[in-house]
Amino acid sequence: LQQTAHGDYFTQAEIRELVAYADQRGIRVVPEIDLPAHATAMLAAYPELASRPGSYQVERKFGIFDPVLDPTKEMNYQFLDQLFAELIPLFPDPYVHIGGDENAKGVDWNQSPSIQAFMKQHRLANNHELQAYFSRRMQKILSRMHRNMMGWEEILNPDLPKQTVVQIWLGKQSLIHAAQMGYRSVMSDGFYIDLMHTAGEYYLNDPLYPDQDKLSPAEQQRILGGEATMWSELVSAQNVDSRIWPRTAAIAERLWSPVEVRDVDDMYRRLAVTSVRLEELGLTHITAREVIMRNLAGGTNQTEALAVLLDVVEPLKDYHRNAGDNLYSVNSPFTLFADAANSDAPAARLFSIAMERFLKNGASADREALRSMLTRWRDNHRAMLQLIAISPVLNDVQGISANLKNISELALTLLDAPGGVTRDRYQQMQQSLHAARQQGGRTELQVVAPIEKLLERRLLETVESGR
Ligand code: ACM
Repeated sequence: LQQTAHGDYFTQAEIRELVAYADQRGIRVVPEIDLPAHATAMLAAYPELASRPGSYQVERKFGIFDPVLDPTKEMNYQFLDQLFAELIPLFPDPYVHIGGDENAKGVDWNQSPSIQAFMKQHRLANNHELQAYFSRRMQKILSRMHRNMMGWEEILNPDLPKQTVVQIWLGKQSLIHAAQMGYRSVMSDGFYIDLMHTAGEYYLNDPLYPDQDKLSPAEQQRILGGEATMWSELVSAQNVDSRIWPRTAAIAERLWSPVEVRDVDDMYRRLAVTSVRLEELGLTHITAREVIMRNLAGGTNQTEALAVLLDVVEPLKDYHRNAGDNLYSVNSPFTLFADAANSDAPAARLFSIAMERFLKNGASADREALRSMLTRWRDNHRAMLQLIAISPVLNDVQGISANLKNISELALTLLDAPGGVTRDRYQQMQQSLHAARQQGGRTELQVVAPIEKLLERRLLETVESGR
């Protein structure tokens, strides 16, 4: 198996060291071998396990692929028995995860005459039932090895013993459903930190909220907690810390707090302190970003303009950054502007808070704070242009830097224009703000919405004053 891994594998000694290191810190390591799908690498090494004859290559891109183990071959269970017999002594934890996710289309099962014949013979009506057959067989193997089976929610099936734990990722309805069926669960839905949502969003994602009342106390007890998943498509060793920290601390607090704890501003206040402490403990989420910035600045220390722009953008969220699974592969360098951008644009958050307050109270201190930020953003473009001239890799962000300048100018005008805007001006401004929502360097500006609110307010003032 390791011969197909291009050097990307752990030796048994390394695994033992890792598990012991975690154990000394009170952390349990539950291994997952994803089966029967998401297993192309295994089929590259052992094509005879597959549902379709032929040879397989290890995937270097990301996505959901057709290759899948053949659950009807007795030989495959002997193989998996041996594989887990080798794995289990390395991981003392009582749980082992068999994956089970995203065998979505079932193409290779549908096209195999022997698999179709097996399904008829065993009265398995569809691929879900065939996968349930597979999961039951795996459960028996693991049970003999004194391990509890865990799997993604696709394995959920009333025939599985109730000690099976399901990991929920497709929605909170599944969490409720699993609890009502009598299964314990771990929730990852809403904790996909690789999708680059903000810490505030993750913080509010309580497994029980707002459905506490739909579940009996016994059912609620079955929800064991959650897991933040850091899928590694868009990271390197260099920037992975900045995707995990500090926001995983916010998720940890979510999961050990009562449902009622929902003060996002206070969480951010404390998270800023935690972030610095985590870096002191040896994490690199702050310094690695500075390394990427210096690279982007042509190997110089002239990173100030870049930092100003980075503080108001966030990387494209969900699966938009890697459009069509085609922009990046495992060999891509994750050293670009978007890799230095974090999912909580700090200056944008402060701007948004100051704008909310200003629109509520009209205090001159808030107006001055807004003016100071906007002036800085407006003037930053000139410095960015100088930087782009010496560092062409930044060409991708010239557009959003110009957009930031444009909408900052626009907002400065609005700040000083109580009493309103004409309809024509309003429409022009709306268009500029709309244009500023365009991505640049696979990131997007996070200051557009507060400026839109200011614009809406000025329009309202015009209407009210009857002009
Ligand atoms: C998953 O994200 N496929 C579990």
